[in-house]
Amino acid sequence: MARFTDKTVVITGAAGGIGSALALLLRAEGARLVLHDLSPDALAALPAELAASAEVVHVAGDGTDDEVQARIVTAAESLGGVDGFAPAAGIYLEAPLAELSFAQWRQTLSINLDAVFALTSKLLPVLNDNAAIVTFASVAGERGSRGHAHYAASKGAIVAFTRTLALELGSRGIRANAVAPGIIRTRMTNDSVSKHGDEWAAGTPLGRHGEPEEVARAVAFLLSPDSSFITGVQLDINGGLYMA
Ligand SMILES: NC(=O)c1ccc[n+]([C@@H]2O[C@H](COP(=O)([O-])OP(=O)(O)OC[C@H]3O[C@@H](n4cnc5c(N)ncnc54)[C@H](O)[C@@H]3O)[C@@H](O)[C@H]2O)c1
Repeated sequence: MARFTDKTVVITGAAGGIGSALALLLRAEGARLVLHDLSPDALAALPAELAASAEVVHVAGDGTDDEVQARIVTAAESLGGVDGFAPAAGIYLEAPLAELSFAQWRQTLSINLDAVFALTSKLLPVLNDNAAIVTFASVAGERGSRGHAHYAASKGAIVAFTRTLALELGSRGIRANAVAPGIIRTRMTNDSVSKHGDEWAAGTPLGRHGEPEEVARAVAFLLSPDSSFITGVQLDINGGLYMA
């Protein structure tokens, strides 16, 4: 069943592990896509199904930049307005608190939180009624994360932001939910998984790390009418690593 026929979905971090898995899944179900990431080369290297076309628009550039955000909005408008928004762009850098500079703190907050607020605000006028927004929180936002105070803070805050979207936009039928992945095998977690992976897998009831497609399927559910009465929730996707 094609749940996204005639729907337009904006995905940031679309060249990343989870973003690209989501883009592939939505495209296979008929979505028109605006795919945003930092580098044009990374977008051009996506699988052929996601090549730029009349129904797939690539927008490259730093997502914290005003002008880049404006190009994303223009692209979404040209595809009929936004039915789904999945801001997956994010960074996860390591710095123990004693070494964490304010500049590093701001850099993470600016990409993981400020840019999500800024782009959401700019997309509001082109958000179609009954659209769905799915933001990317993390197990780190619930439990904290040693060496990642900035990341954990950004991910805790994104949930509060998302719940506020659910409150303010619900009267237009617009839903907003967050997913909180645990340890998912992407470029983002390569280093930490090589250091702590076995220990983390042993502490996970399902005994393994997750795959990007397992997050993408949950995001697609929350973007689709299958979740039509679900808004303001955080869905944990972590193999049982953390139970709220
Ligand atoms: N992988 C995990 O275990 C995990 C766990 C919890 C939450 N998450 C969240 O899921 C989302 C996707 O993560 P992923 O695992 O696919 O990571 P990833 O590193 O594979 O992808 C992230 C993408 O964001 C892009 N990006 C970074 N800064 C950007 C900027 N300034 N402008 C535009 N694009 C930018 C990167 O180029 C990259 O393609 C992130 O928000 C991440 O915090 C991931």
